[in-house]
Amino acid sequence: MTNPRTGNLSLEYRLVPAEDVLKAYTIESAEYPESEAASLENLVYRQQVAPLLFLGCYTHEQKDADNNNSNNMYNDEAAPTLIGYIVSTLSSDTSLTHSSMSTHDPQGSSVCIHSVCVTSAYQRRGIAIAMVKEYLKHLQQHVHIPAISTSSDDSQELADRNTNLVGVKRVLLIAHNELIGLYARAGFELVGQSAVEHGPDPWYEMIYRL
Ligand SMILES: CC(C)(COP(=O)(O)OP(=O)(O)OC[C@H]1O[C@@H](n2cnc3c(N)ncnc32)[C@H](O)[C@@H]1OP(=O)(O)O)[C@@H](O)C(=O)NCCC(=O)NCCS
Repeated sequence: MTNPRTGNLSLEYRLVPAEDVLKAYTIESAEYPESEAASLENLVYRQQVAPLLFLGCYTHEQKDADNNNSNNMYNDEAAPTLIGYIVSTLSSDTSLTHSSMSTHDPQGSSVCIHSVCVTSAYQRRGIAIAMVKEYLKHLQQHVHIPAISTSSDDSQELADRNTNLVGVKRVLLIAHNELIGLYARAGFELVGQSAVEHGPDPWYEMIYRL
């Protein structure tokens, strides 16, 4: 079913290539509070080690700078613009902690979401919820593709892990109270208050079982 708010936007989901990580960082640093925003270095690391877990939402809509929302045009030939993304890494922990978020464990069974971010000009149009649903669909597809490997060497195994997520069992995230409903609408369940302490407001852990 078409979402009435995103329905007239031409959205495209694709993995964020290395050359778009700076664009993601520009959005990240504008939208997250300074204390929560990932550094460019961390985003570059995540794209390098887990490219399959860095999904971008792009549009061909060109915003008219002088007219803000009121005069949008489409240009199918122009490179699409990154307007949002979700980025994660893998961990073998079954609950989110600072440590499960700090490095990528290629053999991990939990997808740990670091960022769900939409650039401000496109917020409150249902893009985050559409993007989260698309991300879960994308993960489901890769969980069910067995690796085709004829080699036992480690680099081959790692390469396979970058094209499939076989063995990955769950998706974890933490959110403040006001965004619990957004993730619940995409299918996440509330686990409870997280042990993570960062800033004055409590964090809540949520899980989606793949
Ligand atoms: C949070 C964020 C991703 C939401 O993106 P979005 O595209 O505007 O979200 P949606 O339009 O899909 O919102 C779906 C629902 O989520 C809730 N919601 C979204 N943003 C909200 C906000 N800032 N405060 C409270 N509720 C919010 C609302 O219930 C909304 O439905 P409604 O518009 O019908 O009221 C975006 O504001 C953002 O990038 N923020 C900065 C980064 C961040 O905090 N990410 C979340 C990390 S857990």
